[in-house]
Amino acid sequence: MRVNDKDDLKYNEALKKKIAKLKKKRNAVIIVHNYQRDEIQDIADISGDSLALSQAAVRTDADVIVFCGVQFMAESASILNPDKTVLLPVIEAGCPLADMITAEKLRAKRKQYPNAAVVCYVNSSAEVKAESDIACTSSNAIQIVRSLKEKDIIFVPDRNLGRYVQSQVPEKNIILWEGFCPTHIRVQEEDIIKAKELHKGAEVLAHPECNPEVLAIADHVCSTAGMFTYAKKSTAKEFIIATESGMLYKLQKENPDKKFYLPTPHLVCANMKLITLGWVAYSLEKMVYEIKVSEEVRERARKTLDRMLAVSK
Ligand code: 13P
Repeated sequence: MRVNDKDDLKYNEALKKKIAKLKKKRNAVIIVHNYQRDEIQDIADISGDSLALSQAAVRTDADVIVFCGVQFMAESASILNPDKTVLLPVIEAGCPLADMITAEKLRAKRKQYPNAAVVCYVNSSAEVKAESDIACTSSNAIQIVRSLKEKDIIFVPDRNLGRYVQSQVPEKNIILWEGFCPTHIRVQEEDIIKAKELHKGAEVLAHPECNPEVLAIADHVCSTAGMFTYAKKSTAKEFIIATESGMLYKLQKENPDKKFYLPTPHLVCANMKLITLGWVAYSLEKMVYEIKVSEEVRERARKTLDRMLAVSK
C-alpha cells in the first residue's frame, strides 16, 4: 500500500533484500533491458541493449535467468539456453512491434521474393525468427545486412530501422515491412527542433526506430548501448535523447556533469514499465512465468540468432 515516499523507499529496500536472498537460493541472474524502471536497473546483474543481453544470456552459468524486459527478449534467452529456466516476471509484457508480423505472413512475403534473404529484427517472435535467415538488433543491423551475399533483403518488422539501414547500405535492395514501434514514432521532427531551441548546443541521439525525419536531424543514430558510449565520449554537455524514457536514469548516473532531456514526455513504453520489484520477488519465489519455445521452432530460431551472434562477435 502506498502511504508516502518514505514508506515506498523502505518497502523497496525490503523487496531488494528479499530478491537478493531468493536470487542466491535459486542461483539466478537478473538481466535488465535499458528501458526498465530505475529500481529494476538498480538490481541488475547485467544490463544493456538487446544485443548485449542476448550475448550475456549465452555466457551465463546461472540456473535461472530472470529477464526484466519484454516477451521477445526472454524468448531469445530461452532459445539460446534451453537447459536453463528463463523467467519473465510479468507475462503480459509484450512488444506491439513484434506482434506486427506472423510467421505465416512472412512465408507469403518470401514466396513473392524467392531470391531475397530474410533479416529479422530481434523484436520478433520465435516463430518469425524460425522463418528468417539471420537476426539483427539496432546495434548491428547495418553490419548484418552488409555481411549477406544476397542483394535483395526482406527486412522485418520495423520499417524505420529498415529504411535507416537502406540509407547506410545503398548497394542492397531492402524490401520493407510496415511495422513500427508505437513509442518511438511518437517523437516528431518539431519536438526535436523545439528541444534544440530550448537547449542550445545539445546533441541529439536517436534510436533507429524513430521516424526518418527525426533521424535526418539527429547528431548520432544508435542503439541504447550506443547512446551510453556516445554520451560518455562526447564533449557536449547536454543531450536530447530520442528513445524510451528509461534511458535517462543510467545516462544521468554515469554522466553526473552532463544533462539529458527527452524531446517529448510521451516516450514511455507501457510494456517495459510493467515489471516492478514486487513482481521480480514474486517471480523468484514462485518460479513464474517460465518462457519456453517448442523444440522444432527453437532449433530453427536458434540458427537465426547464432548466425547474428557469429557476425557480431
Ligand atoms: P536496443 O537494442 O537498442 O536496446 O533496442 C531495443 C528495443 O526494443 C527498442 O525499442
